[in-house]
Amino acid sequence: MSQSKFERESRIQFTATPEYDIDTLAVRAGQSRTAEGEHSDAIFTTSSFVFSSAREAAARFGGDEDGNIYSRFTNPTVQAFEERIAALEGGERAVATSSGMAAILNLGLALLQQGDHVVCSRSVFGSTVSLFNKYFTRAGISTTFVDPTDLNAWEMAVTDRTKMFFMETPSNPLAELTDIAAVAEIAHRHDALVVVDNCFLTPALQRPLELGADVVMHSATKYLDGQGRCVGGVLVGRDKQMEEVFGLVRTGGACLSPFNAWVFLKGLETLPLRMRAHSESALAIATWLQQQPGIRKVYYSGLADHPQHALACKQQRAFGGVLAFEVEGERDEAWRFIDATEMVSITGNLGDVKSTITHPATTTHGRMSAEEREAAGIREGLIRFSVGLESVEDLKADLQRGLDAIKG
Ligand SMILES: Cc1ncc(COP(=O)(O)O)c(C=O)c1O
Repeated sequence: MSQSKFERESRIQFTATPEYDIDTLAVRAGQSRTAEGEHSDAIFTTSSFVFSSAREAAARFGGDEDGNIYSRFTNPTVQAFEERIAALEGGERAVATSSGMAAILNLGLALLQQGDHVVCSRSVFGSTVSLFNKYFTRAGISTTFVDPTDLNAWEMAVTDRTKMFFMETPSNPLAELTDIAAVAEIAHRHDALVVVDNCFLTPALQRPLELGADVVMHSATKYLDGQGRCVGGVLVGRDKQMEEVFGLVRTGGACLSPFNAWVFLKGLETLPLRMRAHSESALAIATWLQQQPGIRKVYYSGLADHPQHALACKQQRAFGGVLAFEVEGERDEAWRFIDATEMVSITGNLGDVKSTITHPATTTHGRMSAEEREAAGIREGLIRFSVGLESVEDLKADLQRGLDAIKG
């Protein structure tokens, strides 16, 4: 049968087994060309899709026939993004969402129910803590927060209602690692699912599903985009769980816009390349910062004296682009350091080609009490630095302005 003009032709097949290298998947996976033969991915900015007949409409709505209906349900550009990230993470299926937080919310609401219990690393993103602590609690889902580096703490927190383990590794901003394989072994002994927020390393540097995780979550807003343009999220896992999540996303409406999906597709094409470059520069900056007077401590898993450096070498391909450091002093010194930089951007986002600098105690972690911050190691002198793709020498020169501002 001849192809109709708008029938989509798939040129590359991929499966969860990495038939292709990650560099190839990042560029090629998920693209389905239309009969126009476009080289770059098409962007389908349409809210609904037309049917050739009332019968076809009924068949699609009734689920008797595959095909697009409405972009809250499916959209070809969103689907291309989902297929590409699923291939990169080595998962069976992905579900894209309107933000990273929407991914966690929809995952929790789709897979958990009243009475269930979650064991969560205490070093996760602040809004993730609020989601579990405040909103999931209202739905009757309880959470115990544990030290992510302490395997015994994960084991001890399990109850007979535990259904999910949630972690972010490396953590933000202190670069604490969780041994994914070891924690997965504990979780699976108790029939709990393991969810890993893989924002900081991305599949280019860490593939949690290969290490035993069940679901990987991303704020696509970070490195998947890579240029700070769009907010979005995505979950990758097995068909069974993703079908549940997909049902909730299509009904609840936390879907990803096709335009954002297209931006993320473009971002993914350069992801492995960028992650290698971010990691190389971050290691150079971390090593240099360690030698500077005025710096009390540098937090980066690529440093040989990081307490979990061996684990980082085992479960990561490299160490990523985000580091943190403590200046000698308190808030005043940290703010003076930040304000003295001229090139790097003072902003809360990370994972951008532009380097960003943040004072966690008064921004990302500002809603925690002083005691909570102290317990979490978020001191007043701490600065988070997301190393972009500017020249390392220019970055050092900019950070030197900060060092000079706190001298003496
Ligand atoms: C590690 C991590 N997870 C999740 C999120 C939430 O993602 P989003 O802002 O896309 O909702 C963020 C955002 O900063 C993050 O840093």
